[in-house]
Amino acid sequence: MLGYRSSFQTLREAESAVKPYARGGHENSANMALHLELNRAARPSDYAAFFYLRDRLTSIRKIFDLGGNVGNLYYCYQDYLQTREDLIWCVYDLPETLSQGRILAGRKNARNLQFTGDLRQAAEADLFIASGSLHYFDKSLPNLLEDLAARPKYILINRTPLTEGPEFAVVQDAGHIRVACMLYNRSKLLDNLASLGYGLVGEWQAAELSLPVLDRPSSTIRAYTGLWLEHR
Ligand SMILES: C[S@@+](CC[C@H](N)C(=O)[O-])C[C@H]1O[C@@H](n2cnc3c(N)ncnc32)[C@H](O)[C@@H]1O
Repeated sequence: MLGYRSSFQTLREAESAVKPYARGGHENSANMALHLELNRAARPSDYAAFFYLRDRLTSIRKIFDLGGNVGNLYYCYQDYLQTREDLIWCVYDLPETLSQGRILAGRKNARNLQFTGDLRQAAEADLFIASGSLHYFDKSLPNLLEDLAARPKYILINRTPLTEGPEFAVVQDAGHIRVACMLYNRSKLLDNLASLGYGLVGEWQAAELSLPVLDRPSSTIRAYTGLWLEHR
């Protein structure tokens, strides 16, 4: 009865259920404009990230920004934080978003901002950011990191819906687009990151975001999560 509005076992299943109704999904051009607008000023969950970033940014030479869209966090964070002159901020995203990001970066003369479709670039980063993006990947973060030749010292996860129960997938209805996302288990995520050597330093709620789960109301995500981890 619920169609694409029900929950699914895998991200793939949710993706194929929503495909006819997705309206271009992540690569809808209105979505890129929306992200720039949303991050014209920092959102509540960004301030917790600033708390951890502030004292560490002088030692961070490269940032890998998973699902960094057209660079919206790069542009926003510059207004709040002092970054190194030689910082490289590398955005990983979908092809159409990357090309829009390159055009915008050229217009804004954003010389520290780079774009890539190659996940292996994360191996050279000091900081791995997954803000509002981890849940769109069918590989969990520990699996993504496992494949790298070297691992970043710091991890910032922000605006991510996590569950304490079994993992499952749903469709997010943002109005202008609909996209599938995976609800990863928080404890499993932290345990798997711990086995890669990452300790949890800070955790907060991204209370500006919630996610209804219509056929499992008790699994509804009332607030997304933010985490700061460091390699020990
Ligand atoms: C909600 S936006 C987050 C934007 C930004 N990081 C922030 O926190 O505001 C999610 C981003 O993940 C990207 N994304 C989703 N699935 C992806 C995939 N399979 N590969 C690369 N990027 C993806 C989308 O294109 C989009 O830019």
